[in-house]
Amino acid sequence: MDVRAASSPDETLARGRRALLHQSPQVSDEMLTLVQARGSLVWDVNGREYLDCTAQAWSNNLGANDPRVVEAAVEQLRRITHARPTFHTPALLELADLLVGIAPDGLEQVGFTLHGSMAVEMALKLALRNRPGAQHVLTLQDGYHGRSLSTMAASWPHPDNVFGPLQPRFTRAPHPDTYRPRPGLDPEQDAELCLRLLRDTIRKGVDGKVAALIYEPIQGNGGHIEFPALWHAGLRRICDEEGILLILDEVQTGLGRTGSMWAAQHYGIQPDILVFGKGVGGGFPLAGILAHHDLQRFEPGDDQLTFGQFPVAIAAGLATVRAIIEDRLPERATEHGAYATERLLEMQQRHPLIGDVRCPGLMVSIELVTDRATKEPATKEAHQVYLRGLDHGVIFGESRYAGLGNLIKIKPPLDVTHEQLSRALDVLDTVLTEIENGRD
Ligand SMILES: Cc1ncc(COP(=O)(O)O)c(C=O)c1O
Repeated sequence: MDVRAASSPDETLARGRRALLHQSPQVSDEMLTLVQARGSLVWDVNGREYLDCTAQAWSNNLGANDPRVVEAAVEQLRRITHARPTFHTPALLELADLLVGIAPDGLEQVGFTLHGSMAVEMALKLALRNRPGAQHVLTLQDGYHGRSLSTMAASWPHPDNVFGPLQPRFTRAPHPDTYRPRPGLDPEQDAELCLRLLRDTIRKGVDGKVAALIYEPIQGNGGHIEFPALWHAGLRRICDEEGILLILDEVQTGLGRTGSMWAAQHYGIQPDILVFGKGVGGGFPLAGILAHHDLQRFEPGDDQLTFGQFPVAIAAGLATVRAIIEDRLPERATEHGAYATERLLEMQQRHPLIGDVRCPGLMVSIELVTDRATKEPATKEAHQVYLRGLDHGVIFGESRYAGLGNLIKIKPPLDVTHEQLSRALDVLDTVLTEIENGRD
């Protein structure tokens, strides 16, 4: 007898769950089985509704399942689903033109792929193609650039890293920490010190030439902390003086999240290569790079993946970027972010757990501490906020990496309604009170 045919749908789901190689440490099984999404809301297999303050890994800058994106994808599906990278589709060319049109000045070339990690690899390849003979790429210590073999190595040290034998070596440089500057220094002095250390690293820390420095304007999976302005300007200056290409990883910060279309524009950074991903696809896998017009293009075969320019994702991306512009989502992010920040700063006065409130735009988070003076991370409490949020129908973002684990992120789609954002903040207020009062 075929056991599978006889099993109930619930048993099938449970068996499928056990079969998965990628097990999640998170909460209840049912919670993770999503069946529907619209805007900032998701529904699980039991019909429970949640307000999603994670925008599904900060990917739905435009709310989930926007009809314009769904229509564009379906239309593309009907016409032609797959075209290998040596062929073009109209949507590919239109999206290339549109992205170059909204890119920071000078970035007039564009390449596409499906994942942020592969886009970072594309940026690294383009840097090496343009700096032949260079041996090194610099990254920042708490940076995060993905989970392919090379981008994992470009990110913070992975705990118990067993992948080393097949990973390239990156040189990780220290960076400033505005919330916990080095002892005796204020944030600006900390940034100045780190710039000096970076220069030393380039000159004395590596043998041979450095091709590129890659960093995130705000470390999305790191501390979520804004760098001082002089840091960004200093990195550009050092890269120019040392002949190094500056790669800005905007996989999280791009497409309106910070209140500008790109964080590069928000902070006045002029990258040589900008990496985008997540929000560009409107829920479809899409990523890529924008590169300065001076840079030499790829040689044939340098960077070709069978589905690298997947027409359905490209069509969805075209509709998404158009919608982000049409709906003025960067402005919405600024407005929502200002409101959220004001509410969180007010809550900070009542909740000793809130050590710091972070933005800009809808790149909103709070860092929880057990003691504001020592800034001891309140990691256990942060996880409780997450779990209790679920009980109240709100999915808050958690940080899990780089030894932090005490951030709560409030990063819904940029077209979240005011009422929804206000509800999420009310729930946060409630659960913080519950936790501080030690209620079960
Ligand atoms: C800044 C940054 N770069 C790269 C990546 C990798 O993107 P993906 O998971 O799509 O490969 C991420 C993903 O979280 C990211 O936050």
